[in-house]
Amino acid sequence: MKVAVLGYGTVGTGVYEMLRTADGLEPGPVLVRKGKACEPFMTTDIGAVLSDPEVGAVVEAMGGVEPAYSYAKEILSSGRHFVTSNKVLVAAKGMELAALARSAGAAFLFSAACGGGVPLLHNLSVASGSDRILSVSGILNGTTNFMLHAMQSRGLDYAAALAEAQELGYAEADPTADVSGMDAARKILLACAVAFSRLPGEGVDCEGIESITAEDAADFMGRGFICRLIARGVPVGDTVAAYVEPVLFGDGAPERSVAYNSNMARYEGKNCGPMVFIGQGAGRYPTASAVLRDLSCILEGRREMMPEGCVSVRADNSRELHRYYVRTNGPIGDELPIQETLVSGPAVRAVTEPVSVRVMHDYAASVRSEGGNIFYAALEV
Ligand code: HSE
Repeated sequence: MKVAVLGYGTVGTGVYEMLRTADGLEPGPVLVRKGKACEPFMTTDIGAVLSDPEVGAVVEAMGGVEPAYSYAKEILSSGRHFVTSNKVLVAAKGMELAALARSAGAAFLFSAACGGGVPLLHNLSVASGSDRILSVSGILNGTTNFMLHAMQSRGLDYAAALAEAQELGYAEADPTADVSGMDAARKILLACAVAFSRLPGEGVDCEGIESITAEDAADFMGRGFICRLIARGVPVGDTVAAYVEPVLFGDGAPERSVAYNSNMARYEGKNCGPMVFIGQGAGRYPTASAVLRDLSCILEGRREMMPEGCVSVRADNSRELHRYYVRTNGPIGDELPIQETLVSGPAVRAVTEPVSVRVMHDYAASVRSEGGNIFYAALEV
């Protein structure tokens, strides 16, 4: 099968290189930006890709919603298979593209959009056909894991950890989506769609790592905890709980050993029990390997990853309960039931009674709206 590639950045170059030696696959034209076509296999004309009758599948590695979305619609409408590493596109338009693919008899797969080389979506997609998935969670952002690891293993402060992540090319020049948790939120949204046939389009609570300080890290590490940014999805009634937040892990948790920019993905099936994958969640070859895996699956007849019947839902985080470690620069209000005050003074540190994710995130938003400062992390039990 001849495969065209849209985009020749980190992922596109890796995909093109791997296609040259892949069984049953061969590289087709590569779409690049105007002024960047410097090899015979490159074109700046999407029409040249779409009108090539030998192209059976197209890999999109451009990122963003447009023009990827318009191209995807044309590709699928023409009956060609479409594989993407673009989580922004799948989060925003995935259900529509899945319906289009189904009606055209074409494949729409997006393993690389969540977890890079870590085979979370692929395995969820297969497992959810024969088992009931009870939860999915993980460390799904390499940049923030690198930063948290640097702060906790080397005592770096937030700014120094971010600067290093940018120097090493993990964080973008604008790292907002990483540090705010939005990147991980988009990934867990895709995982919920694949695992539970419910895509939480609204109501996903998202707390990143922007509030953590070196003092916070020293305090909770002194109490035996390690912090990781966790995205989690759980079916709840007709909807799902879906959220991203820092979590403190005690001794024995595998999350503690996930170092540098690695990712870790977990799911639990009713019959298969807990499954854990650790590996590279970004980068040229890990991400390209997930794309090539999807293409191989297409050769074997696989057509969809977003299940038929998947519906868009509003996430409900009011029934997910955790105790939280909280640090604020003022007294903690009555809305948050406190189990134990750890430190009093200008910075208050406390552990809450079990409260819902909804209540905790809302409380933090209200503190910040009044100019206050708060860091919080769920305590993993
Ligand atoms: N910025 C993302 C990360 C890239 O750090 O994990 C992979 O999606």
